Amino acid sequence: MKIYARITGTGSYLPGSPVTNNALIAAHHLDSSDEWIVERTGIRARHFAPEGVTTSDLALEAARRALEAAVCQPNDIDLIIVATSTPDYVFPSVATLLQAKLGHTNGAPAFDIQAVCGGFVYALSIAEKFIQTGTSRCALVVGAETFSRMIDWKDRSTCVLFGDGAGAVVLEASDEPGILASAVHADGRYHSILSAPGHLCGGQPIGDPLIRMDGQAVFKFAVRALADVAEETLVAANLPPEQLDWLVPHQANIRIIQATAKKLRLPPEKCIVTVERHGNTSAASVPLALDEAVRTGKIKRRDTLLLEGIGAGFTWGSVLVRF
Ligand code: ACO
Repeated sequence: MKIYARITGTGSYLPGSPVTNNALIAAHHLDSSDEWIVERTGIRARHFAPEGVTTSDLALEAARRALEAAVCQPNDIDLIIVATSTPDYVFPSVATLLQAKLGHTNGAPAFDIQAVCGGFVYALSIAEKFIQTGTSRCALVVGAETFSRMIDWKDRSTCVLFGDGAGAVVLEASDEPGILASAVHADGRYHSILSAPGHLCGGQPIGDPLIRMDGQAVFKFAVRALADVAEETLVAANLPPEQLDWLVPHQANIRIIQATAKKLRLPPEKCIVTVERHGNTSAASVPLALDEAVRTGKIKRRDTLLLEGIGAGFTWGSVLVRF
């Protein structure tokens, strides 16, 4: 019998209090305005991790909530994947740090994947393969980021966009669907339109480790790639877009979300939107939006969802889910 992978619990965590556009502008003496940021991005506030709080700390809170929702103990988990581009250390991975913090001792594999804002859909589609092949039965898949640590606060075109946070799901083997289809892609020719082009040497940043972006090129690439991959995933599952209950897109910019929904001919009411309160939390954005929509009762059991991510690299993908 076919083994499906089903999401059985979701969790998320946002550190500290919301930081409004006006508070951010005042704190960093930015030549910007609340009106400009809201109109161009849809973002009104974001959260930042306090000093000393790392990506694995955020991952831990989100993971605990997902485990509780799935009624799982840490040692029920037989695979941990964390999607992040802002790990605590170069190594060991956030996944192994999270494993230790959870008190997880059954020796299951734990590793990070780095596909920036595309990371969570990559991680989910990898976990699905482990479950489909019978290698794992209960996976913890996390997206966690502290992008505030790599923001250039003098660059008004990027510093207003990002926030910190974490989201997690428990994915379990089931004879009921589950993940219906998934697709992930990358095209390294576009690496230079969004990058943090430094590196670490002896623990010190060398070069330019802060975010650099050609916003308009990213915008155009994102809308086309997200629409194409959504169509690819829906065709693979033989599901017309009108049968989707919810689009759970990467939360980078409200205009990217609206343009993608329009290409899919989905009404705006079917899009889960959290970007106005979270900003862009990179690999955490999709599981954060998913968890919020589940906990507020929008997304219900058996709803059909399309999760979509896209990030630097470029990397992108989507996962079609019967929840
Ligand atoms: N406040 C005020 N003015 C600003 C700000 C700001 N925060 N940022 C830029 N501007 C100015 C620019 O300097 C420019 O001024 P100029 O005309 O005097 O040169 C003007 O606004 C217009 O700049 P554009 O870059 O053309 O503005 P645009 O409408 O493209 O919006 C934005 C910029 C919001 C970055 C948009 O391009 C965008 O959202 N792109 C997608 C990028 C994104 O989402 N990245 C996230 C990471 S990638 C991912 O997650 C998929």
